[in-house]
Amino acid sequence: PTVHFTDAEGAVRDVEGNPGDSVMETAVRNGVPGIVAECGGSLSCATCHVFVREDTLDQLPEMEEMEDEMLYGTAVDREDNSRLSCQLKLCEGQDMYVSTPETQV
Ligand code: FES
Repeated sequence: PTVHFTDAEGAVRDVEGNPGDSVMETAVRNGVPGIVAECGGSLSCATCHVFVREDTLDQLPEMEEMEDEMLYGTAVDREDNSRLSCQLKLCEGQDMYVSTPETQV
């Protein structure tokens, strides 16, 4: 699956990911800027905040209560399409489209 990252300036970067990996892991491994992921994916930092392209939102698993709570602590305010990218797992045949916020800290 390919993850399409768009940064706050609109620059797009496409990265090939592995099924089962998270969007966050895919970003960190490929040096994609805009995702900090301080806690390494344990749902305790909110520095992996992304905005998911609206028309792909319903393909994603529902968010857990903990993710929802953490999203109130993001550096850039959450929107309706906000998710924490460490909670978004890649699936075979499903591309992801996310935008990274201006800052994570
Ligand atoms: Fe820390 Fe996602 S990496 S909450």
